[in-house]
Amino acid sequence: MKDVLIAAMQQDRQGAERLSNEMNVAAAPIKLQRFPDRESKVRVMQAGRVTVLYASLDRPDEKLIPLIFAASALRDLGAEKIILAAPYLCYMRQDKAFHDGEAVSQQVLAKILSPWIDEIVTVEPHLHRVADFSAVFPDIKAIALSAAPLLAALVDNSKGSKNILLVGPDQEARAWTKAVAEAAQAPFVIMTKQRRGDRDVEVVYDDATTVEGREVYLVDDIVSSGATLAAATLVLKQKGAARIEALAVHALCSSDDLIQLKEAGLFRLRSTDTVPHETNAISAAPLLADALRKEIARLQSTYQA
Ligand code: R5P
Repeated sequence: MKDVLIAAMQQDRQGAERLSNEMNVAAAPIKLQRFPDRESKVRVMQAGRVTVLYASLDRPDEKLIPLIFAASALRDLGAEKIILAAPYLCYMRQDKAFHDGEAVSQQVLAKILSPWIDEIVTVEPHLHRVADFSAVFPDIKAIALSAAPLLAALVDNSKGSKNILLVGPDQEARAWTKAVAEAAQAPFVIMTKQRRGDRDVEVVYDDATTVEGREVYLVDDIVSSGATLAAATLVLKQKGAARIEALAVHALCSSDDLIQLKEAGLFRLRSTDTVPHETNAISAAPLLADALRKEIARLQSTYQA
């Protein structure tokens, strides 16, 4: 048995390969068969003593059950430690019951995953009312990586920081917009958003900072329907922005949503590859690899002690 192995299903093959190259660790496929009634059968081909189970959890309702089967099968094959590397972690936004009778999906998801894995590593989970990722997964080691260095690398401030403005579309975006702005050495402001429905949002620019003539970078963690970015783009265009583009960690929106963003006046959307998407412009693999290498070294030192 290998000391360390990456395991991933076909749908995550490219991301797993990038991680494998960064870490110089072999990646093994996990076979997934869907029966006509949509049940799943999972077969893992090999396990490592430490196995990194790589899975991006967009389309979560179809991916979570096979993921749990895979973790169980890896354990049966002898994996002593399973680290779930989920660059995009689903269901983090429903962190409270907004109305009577609603499930707190964030907490439920953690309870579903925790018994099957030893650790979880993710990139920029949507933490709003919960300050710390460890509080979401109290039973296992939980590591949240900041995507700020990745998004900051996409900001071009070669014409001077006075020419550009980073904009968070809502208060929830404050933390990541501030982190990207600091890393890119650029100014930032935050807009105010009111969501009335899945695709019905109103965004207001109520900051005194001038937008006119500046190159604006909208910064958000998730682009789901694109409604937030579209509304913010329309407002910033009215304010006279010279160009508006958007940087997102996790892009989940459809091609039709992208067309609507163009029509709203957005120059382009660029994202990290935490979710495979046509807007991917920078890979999170080096970030994940660095964190996983440190964590695996720590685990291996406890074996040797
Ligand atoms: C919400 O608080 C998130 O940070 C994003 O702003 C939101 O998920 C984007 O959703 P949509 O693209 O559907 O407006």
